[in-house]
Amino acid sequence: MNAPDFPAWSSAQLARVEQALSDWVPVQAPAGLGEAMRYAVLDGGKRLRPLLVLAAAEAADGHDEAALRAACAVELIHAYSLVHDDMPCMDNDVLRRGKPTVHVQFGQAQALLAGDALQALAFELLTPDADTVPPAMQADLCRALAQAAGAHGMAGGQAIDLASVGKPLSEPELRAMHVLKTGALLQGSVRMGAACAGRALPQGARQALDDYGAALGLAFQVVDDILDVTADSTQLGKTAGKDAAADKPTYVSLLGLAPSRALADELCVRAHAALDASGLPRVGHLRALADLVVHRRS
Ligand code: IPE
Ligand code: IPE
Ligand code: MG
Ligand code: MG
Ligand code: MG
Repeated sequence: MNAPDFPAWSSAQLARVEQALSDWVPVQAPAGLGEAMRYAVLDGGKRLRPLLVLAAAEAADGHDEAALRAACAVELIHAYSLVHDDMPCMDNDVLRRGKPTVHVQFGQAQALLAGDALQALAFELLTPDADTVPPAMQADLCRALAQAAGAHGMAGGQAIDLASVGKPLSEPELRAMHVLKTGALLQGSVRMGAACAGRALPQGARQALDDYGAALGLAFQVVDDILDVTADSTQLGKTAGKDAAADKPTYVSLLGLAPSRALADELCVRAHAALDASGLPRVGHLRALADLVVHRRS
């Protein structure tokens, strides 16, 4: 099922997310911290994770306010992960989303704290008054986000990434790293959208959405590895060619460009097949998002 209305749907959702993030990320915070937080989050980024939350919530006929909060929460975690990823102790990057990185603009200590505060704010957004979002749904959303971001998700994957510099990883090792460092938050976005369902989804549908999230999550990082080699810094809004320069193992360094592209295409087919198997009627936007991930140029 294709979604001809995807461009209109995604522009409308992006506008909602942008407004909500601008409302929720504080201007006023001690000693300029709010300014650094807003700099890290606003005016940039494809907002893919929020779109995944909202599309999954649509497929699950989910709670609207919960889905918007979850969409913003996952973007805050993602933005914090980028701030820390760019710091000199990690990837040492100076360009992100077309702007100087947060530590370049505000200093390392403020970048560290902005990341910390964005992470905390994500969980604050997920826990409003009980009459806004049902408490059990709040708990499910917090658990899904914590699992995706933590030691067995993004942070664990980042630890493997840093420990792998200069090491030739096998394909299963590389896949395991990508599944955690990037895949977990993308799969988590889909899980959070599904967790906004008013009535529990059938087990088969949940599993299918999980399979979709896993395929899309890995495809996303395979394409990130490809773009690091094939795109330029202006197009990416971040420094191109960094992976080879830093001697990071990637799909391109392991398999080469053409097989990496073939893998991304195969993962897209797998993501679509999972949606077909879900039995859910409104998966057109999720389908379009898988296409976007694999065919994106930035
Ligand atoms: C970049 O993510 C970091 C990775 C996880 C590879 P995105 O490509 O989604 O970055 P933004 O949010 O659009 O800047
Ligand atoms: C970062 O992966 C993944 C995160 C958890 C932030 P990369 O280091 O490849 O991301 P980019 O290329 O800097 O965006
Ligand atoms: Mg990195
Ligand atoms: Mg990086
Ligand atoms: Mg990269």
